[in-house]
Amino acid sequence: MTALIDLRNIGQYVGQTVQVRGWVYDRTDKGKLQFIRLRDGSGQVQCVAFKKEMAEDQFEVARTLTQESSVIITGSVRADDRAPGIPGGYEIGIQTLHLGQMAQDYPITPKEHGVEFLMDNRHLWLRSTRQWAILRIRATIVKAMRDFMDEQGFLLVDTPIITPAAGEETTTLFALDYFGEPAYLAQTGQLYNEANMAAFGKVYCFGPTFRAEKSKTRRHLIEFWMLEPELAYCSLEDLMSLEEGLVCYIVQQVLAKNRPELALIERDVSKLEAITPGFYRISYDEAVDRLEQLAAATTDPEQQQLLKIERGDDFGSPHETALTEMFDKPVFVYHYPSRVKAFYMQPVAGNPERCRSVDLLAPEGYGEIIGGSERIYDHDVLVSKLQAQHLPVENYAWYLDLRRYGTVPHAGFGQGLERTVAWICGLPHVRETIPYARLLNRKYP
Ligand code: 4AD
Ligand code: MG
Repeated sequence: MTALIDLRNIGQYVGQTVQVRGWVYDRTDKGKLQFIRLRDGSGQVQCVAFKKEMAEDQFEVARTLTQESSVIITGSVRADDRAPGIPGGYEIGIQTLHLGQMAQDYPITPKEHGVEFLMDNRHLWLRSTRQWAILRIRATIVKAMRDFMDEQGFLLVDTPIITPAAGEETTTLFALDYFGEPAYLAQTGQLYNEANMAAFGKVYCFGPTFRAEKSKTRRHLIEFWMLEPELAYCSLEDLMSLEEGLVCYIVQQVLAKNRPELALIERDVSKLEAITPGFYRISYDEAVDRLEQLAAATTDPEQQQLLKIERGDDFGSPHETALTEMFDKPVFVYHYPSRVKAFYMQPVAGNPERCRSVDLLAPEGYGEIIGGSERIYDHDVLVSKLQAQHLPVENYAWYLDLRRYGTVPHAGFGQGLERTVAWICGLPHVRETIPYARLLNRKYP
């Protein structure tokens, strides 16, 4: 009996005859011996075609196989420490080889290519080992997020993608023509989460969100995925503890399931192993103090310029990067100035210039991966906040209802999936963290 196997399980089949269906990653020609690196989507293995052990016509095919040709191979599995692969250490001695298609001129070759070229060929680039590893880690992170929420008793309640009103800054809205009426792509599920919170207590949504961001940075996507929990009777301090537990769980899951992938992308895992409870918690004003001290201590005028901050202004990337470099674990920055945050954030009691918000900054320069807050739960305060920001109050009638029928203090946050993947994988840019990135200058393929 020949077992059809997934290469990730090849270790279970040493000494047996197996069938593998996949694609040629590369081939090394040694005359009567052909070393074919085969990938099947779940792993890679070195297959050896030996002229004497195969039908002549099949060896001829093996000898001419090109990169990304599709093949079905049967052969015997041997353990061999030197054999490359994922997992490495196994080899298949080919008995039969059936060609699906001989690929011609596959554009992505082992030589170096520019990023724009690779992004133009994203539909093929996904097959490359590094991209494959990153997207497998992404899948682990998604599952970890959902498992954590489910186990903590949160109910998954989906929120709409087409919305009649802004959930965040109006400057980043994607407008649609909804049968002659204006509508927008969701920037967040939060407002609906708040309604769902009052129905179910602890809820989350997890889906794509859209921001027409005119920024071309390594942290910004136009379409990104966000995990958004919302909890009734929750304080900012409770929220930070929840975030800390979630982030530690995600990192642990990746360490438990993706060691081979982390090795393939050469991630320094000691940085991830350091992600344990006890994240730092500092206020916005303390953060500004620290940035001012750092700027005063630098002699480099360019660095000084970058670190400059007016108390009351939002942090830019250089500020966040500098802050994260002061700590070996993620750091919470809470009580931001109200004027730089969204309309729904609860003011600090006795100091309305500051709000009950918290951002979680990931270490190693990554910066904000989570943004959250306590929500304004008083009807009149919320109305005045909407008016102050020139938002059309009538579009928020349903949202205001939540403040009329049994309002409660509540809080929630949004965790950006791609920024989390970029940090955990140690990537310089978010474009490789999502299968098909939507960027300011890219919507193809
Ligand atoms: O801080 P943001 O804008 O918060 C909200 O949308 C809240 N309504 C969430 C909530 O409380 N339910 O976004 C939350 C997170 C950010 O910390 C970041 O990780 C990610 O979403 N994010 C982006 N990721 C990639 N590209 C963009 N353009 C992003 N904008 C936000
Ligand atoms: Mg934010």
